[in-house]
Amino acid sequence: MEFQTICIVILVITGFAAAQDNFTFPDGFLLGAATASYQIEGGWDADGKGVNIWDTLTHERSYLVVDRSNGDVADDSYNLYLEDVKLLKNMGAQLYRFSISWARILPEGHDYNVNEAGIDYYNKLINALLDNGIEPMVTMYHWDLPQKLQDLGGWPNRELAIYAENYARILFKNFGDRVKLWITFNEPLTFMDAYASDTGMAPSINTPGIGDYLTAHTVLIAHANIYHMYEREFKQQQQGKIGIALNIGWCEPISSADVDACDRYQQFLLGIYAHPIFTEVGDYPSVVKERVDANSKAEGFTTSRLPKFTSEEVNYIKGTYDFLGMNYYTSELGEDGVEGGIPSKGRDMGTILSKDPNWPESASSWLRVVPWGFRKELNWIANAYGNPPIYVTENGFSDYGGLNDTNRVLYYTEHLKEMLKAIHIDGVNVLGYTAWSLLDNFEWLRGYTERFGIHEVNFNDPSRPRTPKESAKVLTEIFNTRKIPDRFLD
Ligand SMILES: *[C@@H]1O[C@H](CO)[C@@H](O)[C@H](O)[C@H]1NC(C)=O
Ligand SMILES: *[C@@H]1O[C@H](CO)[C@@H](O)[C@H](O)[C@H]1NC(C)=O
Repeated sequence: MEFQTICIVILVITGFAAAQDNFTFPDGFLLGAATASYQIEGGWDADGKGVNIWDTLTHERSYLVVDRSNGDVADDSYNLYLEDVKLLKNMGAQLYRFSISWARILPEGHDYNVNEAGIDYYNKLINALLDNGIEPMVTMYHWDLPQKLQDLGGWPNRELAIYAENYARILFKNFGDRVKLWITFNEPLTFMDAYASDTGMAPSINTPGIGDYLTAHTVLIAHANIYHMYEREFKQQQQGKIGIALNIGWCEPISSADVDACDRYQQFLLGIYAHPIFTEVGDYPSVVKERVDANSKAEGFTTSRLPKFTSEEVNYIKGTYDFLGMNYYTSELGEDGVEGGIPSKGRDMGTILSKDPNWPESASSWLRVVPWGFRKELNWIANAYGNPPIYVTENGFSDYGGLNDTNRVLYYTEHLKEMLKAIHIDGVNVLGYTAWSLLDNFEWLRGYTERFGIHEVNFNDPSRPRTPKESAKVLTEIFNTRKIPDRFLD
């Protein structure tokens, strides 16, 4: 080869290697997959488990679930958890995010009666993960409230902040020697809305603009209670980390007149939880307080529908985090305007949301594919909250099933590329990523009609066989090479 040719070859090779750096995972970055107890476990009344609000909803109001199905058996992970660990191991996963069923541990919700069979189950799961070199990341609450606590009013009842702390103490006592990554709550934004409509998720109670804010208030106090209790009673010995998993998308203003509308989207949907915990000033965002207070007054309420924190409570909640869990699926177009009933959180926010028809669809009406929104939202969070450590605790795509899930493969590779740009180019502090979801599972009110799994589960077969989809194979390659394969780089 001539010298010039050699130089060009070297330039091309080093140039390519350099470009690839942007699409390589940093050392120490943890990759894995996620699930939730009600969606996969089954064993709904096995070995002393108590009834939870999803058992109640699916059994007593099955018409709310599109295919009238339930999680009685689901993926049968209560019996097949070793299969799940094997799938993770086969993928080269380093992290498994799963949730604990409160009523499996405390059948009545309260800590006077601990179900040892429930403790055994999670001990076996955690030990199997650790034996296979997989770090457990445990969500304490992924929407399956013990029915007995719902009978007391559920999350709008502030006493649940104490009951949740008591439940968390049982978890730290039994599992905290081995579990070092804890998430108090998954998507409070989603389960607050379970108190805003009687066609929504469990408990499906229609108190919009009131029960939803009361839920947020209790959850924030509960989160802080758990964080402080861990610091007092366990942290020195166990050295774990505690965060909360918040779901949010990017809001793209339709025009320059809609920038404020999209700021309100961030504050009403993310800031309502993140601002009290992750900012220096704490408390709800001022735009949220001002608008709910003003609307409440205009609607004839003599007190605001948004509860107030005392200054002691503001300080108590502030800084109660070791990391932020982020669930990202999709983005929105945002426009200034009023919609939603009186009263409602939507009306308080004053942002009309829509989807760009050019954004690719999934099986879920709410989920269109917007990978660039992921990078923008990661940057929004980093800027608003002082670049906290972030774990992406959920990210995934729904279809109607099938092993050759080309669109899911594209979803993952495009989103991982945007996340890596946020890390390498923008300096966002992301430490790990768990794909949603390890398995096809019970997708709440969509039953088994919308599939998010990277492994197919045959729900017609009593042995619930699991089969890797194309997406699991591509993620396996990514987990093992720790970079996006060249064929997905343009
Ligand atoms: C990463 O991407 C940025 C922006 O596209 C580019 O300027 C930079 O050169 C890339 N880094 C490497 C090491 O290739
Ligand atoms: C999967 O589907 C894509 C197009 O949807 C097709 O190009 C590809 O050949 C299929 N792969 C397999 C293994 O069937």
